[in-house]
Amino acid sequence: MSTTRPLNVGLIGLGTVGSQVAERMLSWGPQLSRRAGVELCLKRVLVRDLTKRRSIEVAADLLTTDPSAILDDRSIEVVIEVAGGDEPMRSYIERAILAGKHVITANKVVMAKHGPELLDQAAGKNVDVYFEAAVGGGIPLISTFRMDLQANKIERVSAVINGTTNYVLGRMASGSTMTDAIREAQEAGYAEADPTDDIGGFDAAYKLAILGSIAYEIKVRPDEIYREGIEGVEPVDFRYARELGFAIKLIAHTQRHPGRVEARVHPAMIPLDHPLARVEGAENAVFVEGDLVGQVLLVGQGAGGRPTASAVVGDLIDLARSIRRGVQSRPSFSFDDRIGVIPIGEVKTRAYYRIRVDDRAGVLAAIGQVFAEEGVSISSFIQKDAWSHDQTAELVVTTHPSLDASLQRARERMAQLEPVRTVSSFLRVF
Ligand SMILES: NC(=O)c1ccc[n+]([C@@H]2O[C@H](COP(=O)([O-])OP(=O)(O)OC[C@H]3O[C@@H](n4cnc5c(N)ncnc54)[C@H](OP(=O)(O)O)[C@@H]3O)[C@@H](O)[C@H]2O)c1
Repeated sequence: MSTTRPLNVGLIGLGTVGSQVAERMLSWGPQLSRRAGVELCLKRVLVRDLTKRRSIEVAADLLTTDPSAILDDRSIEVVIEVAGGDEPMRSYIERAILAGKHVITANKVVMAKHGPELLDQAAGKNVDVYFEAAVGGGIPLISTFRMDLQANKIERVSAVINGTTNYVLGRMASGSTMTDAIREAQEAGYAEADPTDDIGGFDAAYKLAILGSIAYEIKVRPDEIYREGIEGVEPVDFRYARELGFAIKLIAHTQRHPGRVEARVHPAMIPLDHPLARVEGAENAVFVEGDLVGQVLLVGQGAGGRPTASAVVGDLIDLARSIRRGVQSRPSFSFDDRIGVIPIGEVKTRAYYRIRVDDRAGVLAAIGQVFAEEGVSISSFIQKDAWSHDQTAELVVTTHPSLDASLQRARERMAQLEPVRTVSSFLRVF
């Protein structure tokens, strides 16, 4: 164990993640310090409410509601931000960097929106920003890209990266309605009271922005990512998907093309034998393809206080070691500004349509003509259920790969056809 002075740490946030970080630092201090080669000292903890009951015991004099007590304390060398949200946390992280402090954060919103700028500022101040916990909870993703895969040109990253939607879709595959499945996810502690961020695909888009930026060293902004949530998926789609040999997952996908990258988040049909089809419950999985390494699959708990604290404290030990040695152990990032994201219309993909039509002659020909005129080649065309009470039937069409713009136009044009009651579902096929 080193005899050098301790490394003082300021913690911002003492909620689900923060309390697990504090707990590990306070109860497992000697072991962590031995691994870090320097004593790790939790010096101050910033919260909003000093009177709140906490799940762990923290000495009252550690707690503060004044951000300056951490950000302006020159003895604090490392700030851990586990509070969340854009502002004021972006400003706090920036202040910490400008004051020459290293930062560890679990904040995907800040890292997705402002990560490249903060990393540039940090490089200018010769400090580091660690953010392993911002994507995939306890799954080692950022360090894997930053260290273990750095010899590779990353070709594609496909992920099931939002545990709430994966849990909800899993329940729907077993017969629950979406409303019931969301309620169950809330009761199990996976979904927030307001689940919009998860269900609408926003959370997955933030995480994909971070993964894409790190994988290709370009600036992938969350608002450049095509995003669709799972709201349109209905229980019957799972039955048809199974019959066709697919599972339905919210997929975050990015892929390299000459001079540009593809980046999209949407529900997708995925072949049952694909590793991502087998990701169950609130688990996350990230499937990476590099030109040297080939395919790598990383799976684990993508959220929760303890897995996320595992990533945060792991970052702290790594950072402490490099501070003690006086070197930055990790390469810094440099982002290529010239590479942009391909608009979704120009992406090639396969699609599945579920169409409610009048059960009469000529319907198939009319639908077939729309696809032909849009240059979309049909892979399968199946009549599923039929209802005698209103003389309607349900058709399921899957296509070969086509431009997404053509697939969308076909959807709009079919909805206008006289014998088509509604295009009930449109899903991309992975
Ligand atoms: N929970 C997870 O499973 C998970 C997984 C991966 C990443 N993350 C990320 O980790 C971060 C924290 O998440 P969490 O679930 O631990 O959140 P949380 O349970 O809501 O806790 C947030 C903590 O931050 C404090 N806080 C919030 N705003 C503050 C402000 N303006 N000034 C001072 N303190 C403030 C709160 O103080 P009070 O306690 O006084 O209210 C609370 O202690 C977020 O960025 C989240 O996205 C979470």
